[in-house]
Amino acid sequence: MYLKCILPGLASLLLGCLSCSSADHPPSETAHYQEPHRPQFHFSPAAHWMNDPNGMFYYEGEYHLFYQYYPDSTVWGPMHWGHALSTDLVHWEHLPIALYPDSLGYIFSGSAVVDWKNTSGLGVDGRPPLVAIFTYHDPVGEKAGRNDFQYQGIAYSNDKGRSWTKYSGNPVVPNTEAIRDFRDPKVIWHEGMQRWIMVFAAYDHVKFWASDDLKSWEHLSDFGKEWGVHAGVWECPDLFPLRVEGADETKWVLLLSINPGSPNGGSGTQYFVGDFDGKDFRLEDSFARDVQDEKGVWLDYGRDNYAGVTWSDIPPEDGRRLFIGWMSNWDYAQVVPTATWRSAMTLPRTLTLRQTENGYRIFSQPVHELQGLRVAERELNAQDVLDTLNITAALGSSAVLMELILEFELTEEGSADFGLELSNALGERYRIGYQAATGQYYSDRTQAGAVSFSEKFAGQVHTAPRIAVGSTVKLHLFLDVASAELFADDGATVLTDIFFPSENFDQVKVYADHGGVKLLGGKAFPLEPIWER
Ligand code: FRU
Repeated sequence: MYLKCILPGLASLLLGCLSCSSADHPPSETAHYQEPHRPQFHFSPAAHWMNDPNGMFYYEGEYHLFYQYYPDSTVWGPMHWGHALSTDLVHWEHLPIALYPDSLGYIFSGSAVVDWKNTSGLGVDGRPPLVAIFTYHDPVGEKAGRNDFQYQGIAYSNDKGRSWTKYSGNPVVPNTEAIRDFRDPKVIWHEGMQRWIMVFAAYDHVKFWASDDLKSWEHLSDFGKEWGVHAGVWECPDLFPLRVEGADETKWVLLLSINPGSPNGGSGTQYFVGDFDGKDFRLEDSFARDVQDEKGVWLDYGRDNYAGVTWSDIPPEDGRRLFIGWMSNWDYAQVVPTATWRSAMTLPRTLTLRQTENGYRIFSQPVHELQGLRVAERELNAQDVLDTLNITAALGSSAVLMELILEFELTEEGSADFGLELSNALGERYRIGYQAATGQYYSDRTQAGAVSFSEKFAGQVHTAPRIAVGSTVKLHLFLDVASAELFADDGATVLTDIFFPSENFDQVKVYADHGGVKLLGGKAFPLEPIWER
């Protein structure tokens, strides 16, 4: 972020937001979800500006999703927490704004937990309080040239998240060292220590703090100055244990967003695998080699998955580690050509940890609940694709929303270059595919419609290394009207990119350059939109 317009924000804060209530911004702000480029099966706010996902937790059958929200404009401004609810992670109901700026500042990113044991004492009637932990960003202190204008505060809810009260003792973590970037707390319950652990970003590293009651916190340790990429500010960490698939072993994962510095430019999310003993995070030896000397390991190689974190309090009988990210990039998020709102979230994903030939790696896969959006299933037969194979008809008339699972066989020559192409009658075209010669997946939005709104948007083709080995290349793709998400090789390589065709793409082709490719078979699923009309 940081090319943000603080002055208009400040004026708006002083002029009115201190006394805002949810009645000022009813959640149903007339959206029809039919505007040009409006995502049809991704979450986006009804109107106005959105960035990071915040405070996700599950409680009593409801998945909560909060988000950085500025309800008065389509560019970034004084931050609130917008709020939405889902019972299936796919369909969302807009709720009133959960947190408004106050005299301590704007409400920046953070997390939320169910305080099952009422350690905070904030619960009533024997029900656990829901506690949100966020960064206060004080624009007045910032403008005055101070360095301690970010600090952590909490708020709680006793009505299933419908209303939130700020804690009277805020801030709970003051910025005594005066570190300018001191934000984005993620809080987890640590079973072993029977304590709360908070991890947040402090410019070029993360800090771990601990608490018994969510109100009084002590500093434990720091991590990261010497590891990973530091080409930009560290933001939005997440910390969680993950069982290693197929092994009797659990490792700790630290997600870390960075802006700029991602492999294809601008905002991106790197991660670290190691152990966390309730005090210190220590990198796994093999992983340390991958993240030394300013090298990073990335969750998603596309340019549009940022500030993603995972849901808290998913029941153990479910056991998934569920993730969602902001489907944009600070390089251009504020100027993308959407008129009434800006930004969407990625699809929700399940993260797993596997031991690969390169060491521990996170695999991301779309949540299985998305299968409920399939309105038909079409088989694609095995065949050699020599140039292009038009599958538009197979998908049915409205080819715009779809999920595809395609398997290809790599030949010995290793010259294949193939994938999926979307196009429209204006000659605009988007391609996402695999190039055997370089061993890379790629996404090419250079000719996919509007690009001139930012020099940083479509200057180059985005590439992602193939992590899997073997001669079968598997592409699992989700295509909405303004985005593509590739989960290649069962989620080993992931790439998320947005695009803005002048007219919706309506032609879908499998293409093969340089001599063709063998399509082993595939499935195509037209999808239905998630929004009611
Ligand atoms: C990440 C970020 C966070 C901050 C928030 C402000 O995109 O810069 O670090 O809390 O956005 O909106």
